[in-house]
Amino acid sequence: MCGIVGYIGPKQAHPILLDGLKRLEYRGYDSAGLCVAGENGKLSILRAAGKIRVLEELLKKDPPKGIRGIGHSRWASHGKPSEENAHPHTDCKKEIVIVHNGIIENYFSLREELGTKGHRFSSETDTEVITHLLEENLQRLKSRATPHPPHLAHPLLFLAVQETVKELKGSFAMTLLWKQAPDTLIAVRNDCPLAIGLGDREFFVASDVPAFLPYTRNVLFLEDREIAVLSSQQCLLFNFEGKKVSREPLSIKWNLSQAEKGGYKHFMLKEIFEQPRAVEDTLRGRIGPNSTPGFLQELNLDAEILKRVRRVHLVGCGTAYHAGLVGKYLLEHLAGIPCEAEIASEFRYRRPTLDPETLLIAISQSGETADTLSAVREAKKRTSHLLAICNCVGSTLTREVPSTLTTHCGPEIGVASTKAFLGQLTALTLVALHAGFLRGQLSAEELRSFSEELLKIPGGIRQVLKEEPAVLKISKEMYKKEHLLYLGRHIQYPICLEGALKLKELSYIHAEGYAAGEMKHGPIALIDESMPVVALATRSRLYDKLCGNLQEAVARGAVLISVVNPGDRAVTAQSAWTLEVPEVPELLSPLVNIVPLQLFAYHMARQRGCDVDQPRNLAKSVTVE
Ligand code: M6R
Repeated sequence: MCGIVGYIGPKQAHPILLDGLKRLEYRGYDSAGLCVAGENGKLSILRAAGKIRVLEELLKKDPPKGIRGIGHSRWASHGKPSEENAHPHTDCKKEIVIVHNGIIENYFSLREELGTKGHRFSSETDTEVITHLLEENLQRLKSRATPHPPHLAHPLLFLAVQETVKELKGSFAMTLLWKQAPDTLIAVRNDCPLAIGLGDREFFVASDVPAFLPYTRNVLFLEDREIAVLSSQQCLLFNFEGKKVSREPLSIKWNLSQAEKGGYKHFMLKEIFEQPRAVEDTLRGRIGPNSTPGFLQELNLDAEILKRVRRVHLVGCGTAYHAGLVGKYLLEHLAGIPCEAEIASEFRYRRPTLDPETLLIAISQSGETADTLSAVREAKKRTSHLLAICNCVGSTLTREVPSTLTTHCGPEIGVASTKAFLGQLTALTLVALHAGFLRGQLSAEELRSFSEELLKIPGGIRQVLKEEPAVLKISKEMYKKEHLLYLGRHIQYPICLEGALKLKELSYIHAEGYAAGEMKHGPIALIDESMPVVALATRSRLYDKLCGNLQEAVARGAVLISVVNPGDRAVTAQSAWTLEVPEVPELLSPLVNIVPLQLFAYHMARQRGCDVDQPRNLAKSVTVE
């Protein structure tokens, strides 16, 4: 997730901005930049691809003088990581400077519209449309007599910002400067975090408190649809309608490490709780109540390909492979396309039947996994239809395939993949829905109703997260077990594999995921009192059959922990513990059903004293074969 910093006060701005950016490094980034406004109004902008130390070198060579400035560390979402795409961005006259975090959903149409009005763009980012839109609004308002909002030295800027944010769709936190408004810094929040640090006649802006923790512990967290107007003397808050807002600052008690994790004990837990947001951001602008396959344009994937392909291969490793398995069910059910999901390290050494009518979908959080890259290179020899589902724009994978559907989860720091998995499932659902629609397997009405259900999923995940105390309780009873079996059927089967993988890698407990119907063909021999069974038993076409499979396990002494829907009776009656998840359409259920399993693995590992964020022997990105 991009990091924003800002400063206005009596001190030189650039060392404070640089320090703030370094303190936000844990959020992940691919480029960085800052702008300092000098006394004479001169705006010095420095940007660099890569690490913050590259920016630091530039600053050493040419330190900008000024007591007001903004800075940014970028996690690419629109456009590759490069100096041109690094923030800050400016308007045509280079008088407005903006740093932004979030996604502007309507950037494409705004860019086209502003282009026809003569604006020239110098980056591929969605952010740059904001600078030009603000320029346009300033110009328009200048020529009109406009009422002055009270207490403001530069009412025109405020009004233009107000107009601008009304035209933006999506999520944004931003900070901006205007050359013609000295002693002013503006910060805006809509659906992305932004905090103001209150010092002694100095103010700090940041996406996250650690950026200014050494300078002040008094913080005003901006709420959605709020604009802060900062000068060296005061901080005024308004809502988007221009009404003044007052709120007491909070005093932050966290230490630096707690602050980095947003108050959570571990990055993994923070990332589990970020999942509703990861799904929302991955859906953002790609689906809506009046669904059209609009995102295909962004994908650079010809709709004809989705219409025409006769087979899909999904490849990935670990969690990404499990997402691929879910994708197979989705694509087969929704789009009627024959699919294979395969572990990339196996795929690369087979001779899979790929032809020009095959689409290969490579799934990877990092986009740097060696086995997945090799599978892609192998596939490229035989088909040109390749799509990446990836969380890291500009990674090797996204550079090697013609089309990428980005999962907008933000950087994942915990080694165990959680929110990236939900992003992958969301992206695969989008592809399957649109392929289904294009191939005539889904009517417009079915697509619309599925889309509505999909948009409700983040709310469902928020509900599941409330089960955390119940999960903790179960983990306290179970953490000494050495083996667990995860059972489910149909689209829950890959979720069993993923639940078992989470438990293995975090708590070092041996766990197996099995399709419940397969149990009688062997694994049932393992079952006795020492082998608890985790069952994914939400309502589905195979619910009754699963009940039968679970009865067989209970009859052999298994202690049953079940994930069920509200009102469940049959499975609940056999279970020692149940965890409730909301009922959603069966094909979307992996998106909510995995959440209690992630929490379970997390708490089991904590009970056993394991290093949750960095489990032994594991690396976040496996770049060797
Ligand atoms: O970055 P990728 O998604 O390509 O990584 C794939 C696997 O290495 C990764 O999912 C791994 O299995 C995680 N440790 C799972 O939590």
